Amino acid sequence: MDVVYGMYVQWLLWCVLFLISLPFLQSKDVTMVIGEVGGAVTIPCTSDLFENHLVFMYVQRPGSNGNNPRFINGYHTKKRLDPKEYTNRTHVDPRQRTMKLWSILPSDEGLYECHIQYQTKKKQENIQLNVTANYSIPIVTVACDNVSCLVTCSSDSGYPRRDIEWSPNPPLNQSHWRVVNSSDVTDPVSMLFSVYSSISVNCSSGPRLNLSCNVGGALSQEHTVCEY
Ligand SMILES: *[C@@H]1O[C@H](CO)[C@@H](O)[C@H](O)[C@H]1NC(C)=O
Ligand SMILES: *[C@@H]1O[C@H](CO)[C@@H](O)[C@H](O)[C@H]1NC(C)=O
Ligand SMILES: *[C@@H]1O[C@H](CO)[C@@H](O)[C@H](O)[C@H]1NC(C)=O
Ligand SMILES: *[C@@H]1O[C@H](CO)[C@@H](O)[C@H](O)[C@H]1NC(C)=O
Ligand SMILES: *[C@@H]1O[C@H](CO)[C@@H](O)[C@H](O)[C@H]1NC(C)=O
Ligand SMILES: *[C@@H]1O[C@H](CO)[C@@H](O)[C@H](O)[C@H]1NC(C)=O
Ligand SMILES: *[C@@H]1O[C@H](CO)[C@@H](O)[C@H](O)[C@H]1NC(C)=O
Ligand SMILES: *[C@@H]1O[C@H](CO)[C@@H](O)[C@H](O)[C@H]1NC(C)=O
Repeated sequence: MDVVYGMYVQWLLWCVLFLISLPFLQSKDVTMVIGEVGGAVTIPCTSDLFENHLVFMYVQRPGSNGNNPRFINGYHTKKRLDPKEYTNRTHVDPRQRTMKLWSILPSDEGLYECHIQYQTKKKQENIQLNVTANYSIPIVTVACDNVSCLVTCSSDSGYPRRDIEWSPNPPLNQSHWRVVNSSDVTDPVSMLFSVYSSISVNCSSGPRLNLSCNVGGALSQEHTVCEY
């Protein structure tokens, strides 16, 4: 009898725990949206377009500490909402229940909350916007003396920060080249990154080889080094 009772209590506890954790489980659901700098994205507030009697909907960005959310734009059946600095960059479509955002900036990256009030219920969707900008085709320079070559690679105006990957062809033992310098700078206005890397290749250890570098998918031309 005690065993049955114990199992019952345990089952009850699981139910309570499940119910308590339910809101947190739901708020973990995040829709991923990717936008390009300068481009546009559509933030989907809900997929259930059959739910009628929309009273209002709005999009906000949560503050860094969870408080002080920032209102972006919205729609209300009874009043006009003022999107302030987002006036010229957003448009809310209450029929599709979406918000379009354009002229995307790196600072637009982050979490968005969409709150929808229907006549009989309300809903919240969380959307993560990630921003990308393609790096320029990397520029490679080669400077050799008798024993080694100094090869540099640089690429501009990308987002987010990416590492430069070097590809020796044929593959070269890591002990025959080393990174001399690598750096990145952020443009304070555009927030885009420029990256730079230089390597030294030991020419005494092998035949000539071709080198290229790659920054987030932007691939340089191949350059031949150690040609003697
Ligand atoms: C939006 O665009 C209009 C017309 O170009 C301009 O007058 C207004 O200042 C802009 N508003 C913002 C918040 O940028
Ligand atoms: C989106 O950005 C966040 C933070 O910048 C990053 O952790 C995450 O991996 C990114 N996701 C994708 C799919 O790019
Ligand atoms: C950026 O690169 C991706 C993948 O190569 C490409 O689909 C997209 O059109 C590029 N965007 C721009 C603005 O060139
Ligand atoms: C390079 O090699 C040439 C001939 O082998 C020699 O005359 C020259 O001094 C060398 N230069 C350097 C910087 O080692
Ligand atoms: C790379 O060079 C080191 C030292 O010269 C050697 O021990 C190692 O086996 C080499 N690795 C490969 C894959 O050739
Ligand atoms: C590394 O490269 C950056 C960018 O070209 C340059 O400003 C810096 O002085 C270099 N550092 C060294 C140690 O060469
Ligand atoms: C270049 O490689 C040769 C042969 O493997 C080695 O003797 C020499 O010390 C290396 N030079 C440098 C600067 O690593
Ligand atoms: C290196 O590049 C040269 C000129 O582009 C080419 O002829 C050669 O086949 C390349 N070598 C390898 C190993 O790909």
